[in-house]
Amino acid sequence: MPSRRSRGSLRPATPAALRAAAKRIARGGLVAFPTETVYGLGANALDEKAVAKIFEAKGRPSDNPIIVHVSDRKMLRRVARQVPPPAKKLIERFWPGPLTLVLPKRSLVPSLVTAGLDTVAVRMPQGLARDLVRLAGVPVAAPSANLSGRPSPTTAGHVAEDFPGLFVLDGGPTAHGLESTVVAFDPPRILRQGAITEEDLREFLLEGNRSGATGRRTGRRRTGRSAAGTPESPGTKYRHYSPVRPLILFRRRSSLFAYAKAHPDSLVLCPAWLAPFFAAWRVVPLGDTMEEIARNLFAALRTRRKGTELLVPAVPRRGLGRAVMDRLERAATRIL
Ligand code: TXA
Ligand code: MG
Repeated sequence: MPSRRSRGSLRPATPAALRAAAKRIARGGLVAFPTETVYGLGANALDEKAVAKIFEAKGRPSDNPIIVHVSDRKMLRRVARQVPPPAKKLIERFWPGPLTLVLPKRSLVPSLVTAGLDTVAVRMPQGLARDLVRLAGVPVAAPSANLSGRPSPTTAGHVAEDFPGLFVLDGGPTAHGLESTVVAFDPPRILRQGAITEEDLREFLLEGNRSGATGRRTGRRRTGRSAAGTPESPGTKYRHYSPVRPLILFRRRSSLFAYAKAHPDSLVLCPAWLAPFFAAWRVVPLGDTMEEIARNLFAALRTRRKGTELLVPAVPRRGLGRAVMDRLERAATRIL
């Protein structure tokens, strides 16, 4: 068994490695691969046994459904029974890209993939991930390639930390660093904030639907909930993104300063512009812009630097800041 830090299973994403990965998927195996959002742990979505391996490897609860990745519209039609007009518009505008659509499923898709729901979450990724799906010739079920509850991987090295020995296509750090935005119908509503912002989607979401169903005013999680109060996106009910140490999220900068003063051995994760204020502490700077913060966040949650607790200031809930705050709230052991 390779060590936890083994890099032996990482394959630079050459055309030959891509073909080998596609073959593995077509034969019922597992492959980790980079998408524009985070690394995914992929298997043939139409092969129940292959999909079962994903749940087993991740330790994923069986009531948490998996996103199916397609390479073209023909493949979309193989898994989705119906594509409502608002979904068609979103596809025109955002595919290939980091947008997942929850659509009525075809019976061909094993119920294991959808956790028994009659809908299937589908997205068409960009670049290398799309090439891989095209080469595999089958829709690819792929959750983020992390052990259940751990931060999503944004480098091949992160995947190897969680799954030593797994076949990992190494395409370098991912572009967005946050998962796709998940949208359900009808009416169109955001179930999970992600790499495509609510602002980008606004014109596509129904007028009267803007505040309620996109999650605003629905509390901390900011995701869609059914009338019965159960989360519509089952994954959002689980604790996620857990760093190795306690993470405290601070709503106010003043309380972060006060806490940090009393805890000099803590590690401060903050936007680069705040780093000078914490010269006396160990700091992991997250970046200068919200795009950079989003891109660096999950790697920062996996930091090996010394520090008793991770202290993180809240960011403004605008644009990508909504998704960043969603992930921080779910990673936090405490919010002060
Ligand atoms: O960017 C991404 O979306 C990445 C890359 C690999 O594509 N994938 C990803 O998968 O983040 P995962 O499994 O970590 O998150 C999938 C989310 C979960 O919250 C899950 O509950 C939700 O999508 N989901 C999947 N199928 C669903 C369905 N039929 N209805 C509602 N939510 C669904
Ligand atoms: Mg995940």
